[in-house]
Parts: sequence; structure tokens; C-alpha cells
Amino acid sequence: MASSDDPFDAQDEDIDDESEDGEEVEQDAISLLSSDHAEVKQMFEEYRKLVEGNGSDDRRGDLARQICSTLSVHAEIEEDIFYPAMRENIDDELLLDQAEVEHESAKELIEQIEDMDAGDALFDARVLVLGEYVEHHVQEEENEIFPQAETSGVDLDELGAELAERKRELMAALEED
Ligand SMILES: [Fe+2]
Ligand SMILES: [Fe+2]
Repeated sequence: MASSDDPFDAQDEDIDDESEDGEEVEQDAISLLSSDHAEVKQMFEEYRKLVEGNGSDDRRGDLARQICSTLSVHAEIEEDIFYPAMRENIDDELLLDQAEVEHESAKELIEQIEDMDAGDALFDARVLVLGEYVEHHVQEEENEIFPQAETSGVDLDELGAELAERKRELMAALEED
């Protein structure tokens, strides 16, 4: 029986992330963050389909909570590791300030959603507006911050390993809740 504090336990279903000898294959920082972006984009699309198809409160509520926790982990690893590394290595303080302000707005909406039930007035609207905020923010990251990261001289493999490690810790902590 594996102990519950083994961070790799939570990743069991992510078979693609392991090589044949069971070692974790680390992604570089840009591909790790981009795959998070693709994952949340897909979840928001799924949410919209549930709304359009009159999906039950249970299903919408579960998916909304999953979106919120995925985004919270993503925002935290960016704020703790990625943005500080960019601040040291790219000369675009305003762009990074804007990104942090966008995180603040998203987090306010996430907190509101987490305090609500899926049947409450404005629940769907809040989730869908969060999706719009996130789409805008992701475009700025992918079109403006990531290209600068690529040419910044930062070791993106090492940064990716740090992001992955922190992400595993945060996700393991979430599973314990
Ligand atoms: Fe971000
Ligand atoms: Fe991001």
C-alpha cells in the first residue's frame, strides 16, 4: 500500500507522463504551462456544453469546482515560480504586473464560485465570465510572455521541473482535503 503523502500517487492516471522505466518525464516550463492552458480551455468548453444542454446542478457544480482548483494550482505555480523567474530575466515589468492583476480578478471570481451552489443565480454566468477572463489572460501569456521566455536565456527545463514539483505538491494537498 503506497502512502498517501507520495506525490506520485496522485499522478497514477497520467500514464503519458511516465517513461518506460517509470521515471517522470519532465516538461519544459512553456509546455507544462501550455498543457494546463489547453486542459482548462477544454473544461470551459465542456462547461458551456453542459449549460447549453441543461446539465444537472451536480455535473455543473463538480466541473466548476474542478476548473477552480485546476486554475488555482496553475495560478499559484506561475506566481511563485514562473513570474518571479520572468521578472529577473525579461525587461517587461508592466506586462508581468498586468498578468498578476489579471490573476487577482480571476481569483476573486474563483472565490465567489467556490462559495456558491450550482443552482444559485449567476453561478453559470460567473463560470462563463471566468472562462472569458482566462482566455484573454492565456492569450497574453502565450503570445507575449512565452516568446520572451524562450529568448530570455532562462533554463526552461529546470524551471519546468520546479513548476512540476510544486504542482505535484499542491495537487497532493488538494487531494488530502
Ligand atoms: Fe497566468
Ligand atoms: Fe497561465
